[in-house]
Amino acid sequence: MTLQKLPAFWAIIPAAGVGSRMRADRPKQYLPLAGKTILEHTLACFVDHPRLKGLVISLAEDDPFWAQLPCASDPRIELAVGGDERAESVLNALLRLAELGAEEHDWVLVHDAARPNLAREDLDLLLAELAHDPVGGLLAVPARDTLKRANADGRVKETVDRSVIWQAYTPQMFRLGFLHRAMAEALVSDVAITDEASAVEWAGQAPRLIEGRADNIKVTRQEDLNNLARIWRDRQ
Ligand code: CTP
Ligand code: MG
Repeated sequence: MTLQKLPAFWAIIPAAGVGSRMRADRPKQYLPLAGKTILEHTLACFVDHPRLKGLVISLAEDDPFWAQLPCASDPRIELAVGGDERAESVLNALLRLAELGAEEHDWVLVHDAARPNLAREDLDLLLAELAHDPVGGLLAVPARDTLKRANADGRVKETVDRSVIWQAYTPQMFRLGFLHRAMAEALVSDVAITDEASAVEWAGQAPRLIEGRADNIKVTRQEDLNNLARIWRDRQ
C-alpha cells in the first residue's frame, strides 16, 4: 500500500494594487493603521502560522515602499511580481509557489493585502472546515440588509431573497493545481475574475461558504480605514 502524502498549506497575499478608490498618496496597503502599515498587519496573521509551509506576496514591479518595511528582510516571505489585474498577481504567486516546491494537490490560501483585520480564529476555522473538502471555499458573510434589485431608472424592481446572498471575503482556499488551471483558462478566455472563487465557479465547481467575522473588511475607501482605526482603538 502506498501512503499518499498529506497536502501542505501555503498562503498568497496579492499586494500589487494601486488603491485608486482610496485616493491616497500611496497604495492603500502602505497606509498607516495603529502604528504599522496595513500590509504589516495583514502579514502578521500568516507569517508565523504553524500550519503554513510558505508565504508569497505579489508586489508591483516598481514598488518603492516594500523595501522600507522591517519585514522586507524576513526570510519567510517570498516575493512574486504583480500584474495589472489581481488575477495576474495571484497567478504569478502560484507559479512562485510551484518553484518553492508546492505540489498540485497542496492547498493555497489567497488573502487580500487590504484586509488587515483577519482574526486568527477565522483563518483556523477555514483551514479546519475545508481541509477535507473536495473543492475548497472561502470566508464569507451573510447579507444583513434588505436587498433590492434596481431597474434602469434607479427604482426598485424587486426585493431580493437575502437568505441566499453572501458577501465574499478572503482568505479563499483551493488546491494549487486546480486553481492555477481555472485562473489561467479564465484569463485566456477573457472572463472577469474578481476573486479566486469566481475562477473556480467558472471551471464548474461550487466553493463552500464558511461564515466569518464581518469585521474582516477590505480597506477600499477612506471610511473603511477610519472604521478599522476605531476598532483597533477600542481593542486597546
Ligand atoms: N491587487 C493586486 N494586483 C492588482 C490589483 C489588486 O495584487 N493588479 C491586490 C490589492 O493590492 C489588494 C487586493 O488585490 O490587496 C484586493 O484588490 P482591491 O481592493 O481592488 O485593491 P486595489 O486594486 O489596489 O484598489 P482599487 O481597485 O481601488 O484600485
Ligand atoms: Mg482593484
